[in-house]
Amino acid sequence: LASIEYDVGKVAEGQQVVVKWRGKPLFVRHRTAAEIQEAQGADLGGMKDPQPDSDRVKAGKEQYLVLVGVCTHLGCVPNMGGSEFGGWFCPCHGSDYDTSGRIRKGPAPKNLEVPEYAFLSDTKIKVG
Ligand code: FES
Repeated sequence: LASIEYDVGKVAEGQQVVVKWRGKPLFVRHRTAAEIQEAQGADLGGMKDPQPDSDRVKAGKEQYLVLVGVCTHLGCVPNMGGSEFGGWFCPCHGSDYDTSGRIRKGPAPKNLEVPEYAFLSDTKIKVG
């Protein structure tokens, strides 16, 4: 299956870009310092799919979050904005994901998927 390359340097801080990858939306978000702090400091205890933020981003590149933009409940595309946790809100049945893409509230069973990817240079990533 196809890999894609993308220059994350194009994504302004606080914004996200949606790229198509293998027929799915891929969210590339450039997190603010506050979003990173929130993601790193959140208590894993109450989470349905507990995972530290450090397992979901690349070391030294914590500002970039790359996610498959498909709700793990029934596959709708969550929106950036409208989340109680600063992340993504799925309009279909109200799943709410935090600034690390982790499920925090609502019916989705799992966090938004982080695809396999690597940095090829300072800002260029290869996904898949
Ligand atoms: Fe997202 Fe149901 S598909 S909450």
